[in-house]
Amino acid sequence: MAGRNKVTVVGAGNVGATAAHWIAAKELADVVLVDIVEGTPQGKSLDLAQAAPIDGFDVKLVGANSYEATADSDIVIITAGLPRKPGMSRDDLLKTNADIVGKVTDEVAKYSPNSVIIVVSNPLDAMTQVAYKRSGFPKNRVIGMAGVLDSARMRCFLAEALDVSVEDITAFVLGGHGDTMVPLPRYSTCAGIPVTELLPKEQLDAIITRTANGGAEIVGLLKTGSAFYAPSLGAVEMAQSILKDKKRILPCAVYLEGEYGINNLFVGVPVKLGKNGVEQIIEISLTNEERAALHKSAGAVQELIDVLGI
Ligand code: LAC
Repeated sequence: MAGRNKVTVVGAGNVGATAAHWIAAKELADVVLVDIVEGTPQGKSLDLAQAAPIDGFDVKLVGANSYEATADSDIVIITAGLPRKPGMSRDDLLKTNADIVGKVTDEVAKYSPNSVIIVVSNPLDAMTQVAYKRSGFPKNRVIGMAGVLDSARMRCFLAEALDVSVEDITAFVLGGHGDTMVPLPRYSTCAGIPVTELLPKEQLDAIITRTANGGAEIVGLLKTGSAFYAPSLGAVEMAQSILKDKKRILPCAVYLEGEYGINNLFVGVPVKLGKNGVEQIIEISLTNEERAALHKSAGAVQELIDVLGI
């Protein structure tokens, strides 16, 4: 009988530790939590393991400062890197986090050469490209988490505006995880009804702006860090679709080679996630305006890639 799945979470800060929590609570996989800070991943894993008898989840939880224990993980979620501070853009983090994500990726590729890597570190699209280049993995096994978070924010605001269940709201957000992201109200629905038929344009525009600034809004409130409940669950939803071969259609940052007219760049588009990672890139038709916005967003990602020279 096949054993349980194994997921490594790199970075035992708020995003990483909360990802471990969601994975354990959903009984998705055994979890190895890795961090360079001595004691933090061990302490958080032990604390979470002690919650298991209360909630009744049976998964193994291990904390480590090196990668031996991560060997042969099915999925590795990379959250390592510095978080945003107030007033700091995601791009300010570029070079520091590229260095951190690059080193982490070397270890991941060494110990779990067949894994699927899900990147959460910012600036998201560029860090996913760093992991792709450094790992040498095929493009279907390196994916960035942003669209799930950005569209969840939009769904949250739409459900609030319509006073309906979040379950009945779908939303699409394409493009890079930055101020140029492209929320698509035309493809966002309440129980199948396009929200463009349910809310006035001004209200939709306000929701779009709030979605694009969703991360900064939380940084501004927390002051000492950035969002973590929704970002971590976004990564775990992607992991779940892969581990269970659910073939969910989710907006994720993936390596485009001509799709949407974008080349050699990680940008958020709808994809199918199954046991092979990215199983299909779905090309939806866009208006000229939407396409221009997506290309503008891709341009912002390309600038970061040019700075990094990768
Ligand atoms: C956010 C940051 C983490 O969107 O990028 O919350």
